Amino acid sequence: CSTLGIGLAGLGTVGSGVVLALQRNSDLITDRTGGTVRLKVAKALVRNPAKARAADLPADAITTDWQELVADPAVDIVVELIGGTDTAFDIVAAALKAGKPVVTGNKALLAERGTELFALSKEHDTPIHFEAAVAGGIPIIKTVQESFVGNRILSMTGIINGTSNYILERMANAGLEFSEALKEAQDLGYAEADPALDVNGWDAAHKAILLATLAYGFSIDPTKVYVAGIEQVRPIDIEFATRLGYVVKLLAVVREHDDGSIEVRVQPSFIPKSHILASVHGVFNAVAVHGDAAGESLFYGSGAGQDPTASSAVADLVEAARSLRQPDGHRGFLPYKEAGALVPVEETTTAYYVR
Ligand code: NDP
Ligand code: HSE
Repeated sequence: CSTLGIGLAGLGTVGSGVVLALQRNSDLITDRTGGTVRLKVAKALVRNPAKARAADLPADAITTDWQELVADPAVDIVVELIGGTDTAFDIVAAALKAGKPVVTGNKALLAERGTELFALSKEHDTPIHFEAAVAGGIPIIKTVQESFVGNRILSMTGIINGTSNYILERMANAGLEFSEALKEAQDLGYAEADPALDVNGWDAAHKAILLATLAYGFSIDPTKVYVAGIEQVRPIDIEFATRLGYVVKLLAVVREHDDGSIEVRVQPSFIPKSHILASVHGVFNAVAVHGDAAGESLFYGSGAGQDPTASSAVADLVEAARSLRQPDGHRGFLPYKEAGALVPVEETTTAYYVR
């Protein structure tokens, strides 16, 4: 198989995670794709080339010029992980115009300027993949787009901002001040470069807008969405919630009303302690998707951070590479190894304890 080159815009928390995941699992990815996909970072865009990074790349692979990255003939797929809605827009638009598939984790960009970008994607017949944009490592985009394709979606309810969830829990359980808990979330790589988006509810709202667009098929005007964040939550609210048998969570709700209108909202909410969403701790996210055929399914996992988000971005990279390599290829599963070792059956008959 020949190698596909990645133009990686951004080598911060998530961009470095993508490089590390590709370094760790490159052979596995090639095996799993029947030898059709080998991925290599050909060029990476940063602001400050002198900065120490979690992932190493050769110096000649680093640029500070986004146009050079997109135009590089060695770049087949562009990954946008710089954040924001200005330069990120220019990069994604230029990549689409050049016919280079895009992978992005930028929910702000797609929720605010997705209408323009999806129009370009259609015009140039070049896809935008964005699994990393919602709920970190949880494959919620593919779930709504593919697994629930045969369902009318009645609602999607959940916790989709890891930073807020982390802060609320640290305030409730460790008695931290809001600012201390936010600092921890930033140090752990969960928060946005501008953490105001996490605490004012807009990061969750951007994600809810994307889920609603996927489920109902039209662009959602962000100015029509009710958004309140956890910056309004005081220790006394958490204390009252605890006394009354509730926990405070930042809840995102997307649902279809009987008249066909779609409600999208984000707000801090009292959740009964016995409710499954009350058990979503720390940086974890959970989304309950209610389809008319499937009923309700709950998707739970790490909602932010380097490795979980990189996992989603790499999955999208493989998807983009597959479609470049084999536009009409076989998309089902084919075993890719002749044989593998199994634990002897007698060793599997002893009791197994879930830890
Ligand atoms: P970081 O701030 O850690 O990294 C951003 C990277 O982009 C840095 O390498 C920075 O360069 C580079 N960069 C930023 N602006 C420019 C510019 N104008 N020109 C060139 N390079 C630039 O962000 P994250 O990795 O946390 O997030 C990236 C994207 O992924 C965002 O859209 C975010 O919303 C999204 N995301 C993040 C998650 C997370 O858990 N962190 C989870 C899901 C999505 P330099 O290093 O030199 O400063
Ligand atoms: N800042 C985001 C969060 C990153 O905390 O959920 C994941 O999208």
